[in-house]
Amino acid sequence: MTTPLRILSAGADITHALGRTIGEHASAGDVFLLTGELGAGKTCLTQGIARGLGVEGYVRSPTFVLMTRHHGRLTLHHIDLYRMGSPTEAWDLGLDEQLFGGGVCVIEWADRAAELFPEDCLWIDLKYGQNPDSREITLDAGLPEENSRFKMLLDLLDQKAPLL
Ligand SMILES: Nc1ncnc2c1ncn2[C@@H]1O[C@H](COP(=O)(O)OP(=O)(O)OP(=O)(O)O)[C@@H](O)[C@H]1O
Ligand SMILES: [Mg+2]
Repeated sequence: MTTPLRILSAGADITHALGRTIGEHASAGDVFLLTGELGAGKTCLTQGIARGLGVEGYVRSPTFVLMTRHHGRLTLHHIDLYRMGSPTEAWDLGLDEQLFGGGVCVIEWADRAAELFPEDCLWIDLKYGQNPDSREITLDAGLPEENSRFKMLLDLLDQKAPLL
């Protein structure tokens, strides 16, 4: 398996900058699966991804509407499964259309429906760190590194992380 990449974020601006780099390098069909407790920074990272994709304006958490779509260089589907009753419910809502539709998908609380996602996704976990503004962010490709569509992105982030 791929070795997960661990990045320490010292503040929301760093998490946002990490997201922006991810968005700048994202390709059509990429699926980013975000996990982490309430307030860990999933939406903050998503806002960075949106900015990197050239989405204008503010990207809110879609907790109450479940899915929102934004137009940038590529279409961003922002999905939040926090209020999802069961994985089947997500499927019934047409999640597969977003997943396989050619835009970029970012899914908060993805662990609530882990079995729905294709193997070649990038899991991004955010954990609280030692002080209120620090987070430990772990990026893990679902496939062995040589087969993962995220290999180049992970290499780039590995080099760039200290400079974020
Ligand atoms: N290093 C950091 N990275 C990200 N956010 C941080 C960091 N330090 C502090 N914060 C703050 O933590 C909060 C993160 O909120 P955010 O809405 O992104 O979390 P979330 O994981 O999406 O929560 P939810 O599960 O409710 O959707 C923001 O208020 C942000 O300013
Ligand atoms: Mg959120």
